[in-house]
Amino acid sequence: MSFYQVWIRSFADGNGDGIGDLYGVYDKLDYIRSLGVDGIWFSPLYPSPNADHGYDISDYRAIHPDYGDLDQFKRVLDKAHRLGMRVLMDLVVNHTSDEHPWFQASRQSRTGPYADYYFWRDEPNDWDSLFEGKAWTYDEVRGQYYLHLFSKKQPDLNMDNEKVREEVKDIMRFWLDMGVDGFREDVINFISKREGLPRGIPFVPLVGGMIHYKDGPHIHEYMAEFRAVAEEYGAVQIGEGPMTTVRSALNYLTGATKSLDMMISFDHMFADCFYIEYLHLPFRLTRFKRAVSRWQNALAGRSWNVLYLENHDHPRIISRYGSERFWRESGTMLAASYLFLQGTPFIYQGQEIGMTNIRLPAIEMYEDIASKTNYERLLRFESAEKRLRRIHLSSRDSARTPVQWTAGPNAGFTTGTPWFHVNPNYKRVNAAAEARDPYSILNFYRRCLRLRKRSRTLLHGRYREYFPHHPHLFVYERTLGRTAYLIVCSFTSKEVVMSLPPAYQGHHLTLMLCNYPATDGTDPVLRPYEARVYRTQMGKDAR
Ligand code: GLC
Ligand code: CA
Repeated sequence: MSFYQVWIRSFADGNGDGIGDLYGVYDKLDYIRSLGVDGIWFSPLYPSPNADHGYDISDYRAIHPDYGDLDQFKRVLDKAHRLGMRVLMDLVVNHTSDEHPWFQASRQSRTGPYADYYFWRDEPNDWDSLFEGKAWTYDEVRGQYYLHLFSKKQPDLNMDNEKVREEVKDIMRFWLDMGVDGFREDVINFISKREGLPRGIPFVPLVGGMIHYKDGPHIHEYMAEFRAVAEEYGAVQIGEGPMTTVRSALNYLTGATKSLDMMISFDHMFADCFYIEYLHLPFRLTRFKRAVSRWQNALAGRSWNVLYLENHDHPRIISRYGSERFWRESGTMLAASYLFLQGTPFIYQGQEIGMTNIRLPAIEMYEDIASKTNYERLLRFESAEKRLRRIHLSSRDSARTPVQWTAGPNAGFTTGTPWFHVNPNYKRVNAAAEARDPYSILNFYRRCLRLRKRSRTLLHGRYREYFPHHPHLFVYERTLGRTAYLIVCSFTSKEVVMSLPPAYQGHHLTLMLCNYPATDGTDPVLRPYEARVYRTQMGKDAR
């Protein structure tokens, strides 16, 4: 399996109002399928006041009018299925929007049926929210504070309330009955909070309270309830686990507490930062490799990895781990660096054409709540220029600019006025131009997925990393029986000499894929950001 992620607002506008929608998606389904993926994950499509662009839901059983309606969703779903693709919805149940009717009812009455759907207190504790200041906001109507781990407009649901868990299961059934194939479950490792909401670790900003809500006391009981629903339908469950360690992830993925098919981890996204919004560092390949290998090795034979380099929460990968100057080379190399690992690849919209970060000249032009509050709070002691540079590096908005379809007006995203800024590089970076170019990033993604799909070794083979301390090369193999694939990726703009791992020396290596044209793979010198995929047969006694 492999998935394509759609963040609909910026994907494709089908009705000319400047906002991506399900009409646009419908028309692009063949394109998505042409990449070689087998499924789509939709970031939230539901009605939402968009305080956090869809991750603040005000109705779980409908489609945001900007994006269409349930009938149009059904058309998309049916067509995706006809094309052989599964469809995952985003299940966001750690919190709702403050405009959700449950919250509205909850504020109105301390005794009504919704009174305990959220966390209300007369006195807040010391937890911080991850998006804006304290995790508690006073509500005039109820005369109490409510908990929100994210923005003020995202009050946390009280999952200890059995009625809330029943609601979650009903929501799951609603979409599964419609024919959806599973869920990507938002910040799912945060849904169980410790009783009494005790104080966090003193003097630890942002995450001081996390020991009381990450992998909380009842998480596996609640997850088991949701799992039972998914199992009735044979549905897939992929959890998002911010701050998750591989050890805690294994509790969700294996054994008696197995409740997820896969877990979206973050470790490999920290090779140039610690949460890029907060602390940016120079890219270090060794950090990337260590994280990848940790997950590959720990899950081997036990579970299945989620493979990704981009999503709607991360800036564009070429701008981070690659080089905009070596745009084509690094964009293709990055594809090879992860598409042959063990697990299920996810490709985020625009990644496959090598979209890069946008650099807007003023903070007012940004949309992302995390960027705005970072600018105001975290970065407030830095100069305006420096603050903006940090936003350029870190903003989630870089992943949220309209997808660049053509070199025409608005990059072919809309015939109207786009809701958000189009990256000015669209004349060069766009799907139409790349479709015509056999050496484009787009066609390289297609080749990678084709190769992967045809090879049992690449799907099921054992992972092993070579030269883990090499600062510029990521070298890994996948082996099954006597077949071995060796993937060599250069993460530098300089030439590097590569040496083969001893087990490969003297073997005949077939070059299956390379991101430079006209090459036979025998030259020991790797060009800037070169990637090669070799296949060979190992002698019986060679291993
Ligand atoms: C997840 C989502 C992110 C959202 C947050 C709160 O991390 O991917 O976009 O802001 O949860 O829902
Ligand atoms: Ca539209």
